[in-house]
Amino acid sequence: MDTGEIWGYMIHISGSLGVGCQYCHDINNFAADPYPAKISARLMLRLVNDLNGQFLSQIPTWGGNYVQCATCHHGQPNNMLAFSERNDYRPVNAVGEVLQPWSIDTYAIATSTEFVNQHPTTGKMLSMVNYMRENWDRYVLPDPENQALLAELPVNDRQDYIVIDETVYSVPNCYTCHQGNRIPAGAITRWELNRRADGGWTLLPDMLRGGEVDPETGRAIESAGTN
Ligand code: HEC
Ligand code: HEC
Ligand code: HEC
Repeated sequence: MDTGEIWGYMIHISGSLGVGCQYCHDINNFAADPYPAKISARLMLRLVNDLNGQFLSQIPTWGGNYVQCATCHHGQPNNMLAFSERNDYRPVNAVGEVLQPWSIDTYAIATSTEFVNQHPTTGKMLSMVNYMRENWDRYVLPDPENQALLAELPVNDRQDYIVIDETVYSVPNCYTCHQGNRIPAGAITRWELNRRADGGWTLLPDMLRGGEVDPETGRAIESAGTN
């Protein structure tokens, strides 16, 4: 990887979050860590690699779609959409307003044992969401606004908020990625990456795809799931 590739990827993630470089950087010293957002972003780089390596590329019928920043962020840094149990698992926004029904299958159907047995992908997805719920404090710094929000929400509206060590986090859920599509519109396919001259490095660096990477070159030794 070279400076051009790092800048290319940085431009890509800025677009995914709808922010400028200054959201995370002191532009006179890119190596400094001036803001919590940069620390969260570094943790989220690890998140993307973990989700791709442990879950997406492990789906027996994996269709080649990777998770990237935009898969959840959709052009904004926070206030992502999830859904709440109280509203029949329909998607709600951060203040609990119901949005359109989730159209893949309702979450209730999707979580039944029978459905999961017939759809191994859904089983993997449920493990992935549970994994995030249990480990979310490893991947983001808490948002101070969430602490106040929880106090105002009725208990049952807190489905997409979890408490870890007395701190409130807003966690992603099926709707955060899918938004009513079978394949999340914000995912990226390995074919799109492979047909680029740089192997797609500036869209999703090899080290975020969940496979083994040569530490010298920063290139995949073998992309996860592609053999
Ligand atoms: C959402 C947060 C975020 C945004 C926005 C962002 N960056 Fe970064 N940037 C990071 C993180 C995280 C790293 C990696 C830091 C690490 O692991 O040491 C990084 C690393 C870098 C580096 C390498 C610095 C070093 O340690 O030597 C450069 C250069 C850079 N970014 C430039 C940019 C430019 C130019 C933009 C705007 C187009 C930008 N960044 C936007 C989070 C961000
Ligand atoms: C982090 C983002 C993310 C989350 C959260 C997520 N998914 Fe997915 N889902 C994906 C991606 C990416 C694919 C495409 C995988 C592939 O290429 O095979 C996918 C595929 C699927 C498919 C297969 C669709 C098809 O036609 O092949 C189903 C069903 C599914 N997800 C259900 C769920 C359910 C249920 C949840 C919540 C428990 C969930 N997903 C949470 C990213 C996500
Ligand atoms: C699985 C879904 C998911 C993925 C993938 C993801 N994020 Fe996040 N991110 C979140 C959620 C949820 C939050 C917490 C938002 C909140 O508290 O409202 C968050 C928070 C952040 C924040 C802190 C925002 C703030 O207000 O300071 C930054 C920065 C960030 N993510 C950067 C990234 C970057 C960069 C990537 C890609 C390398 C990425 N995220 C990938 C779901 C995701």
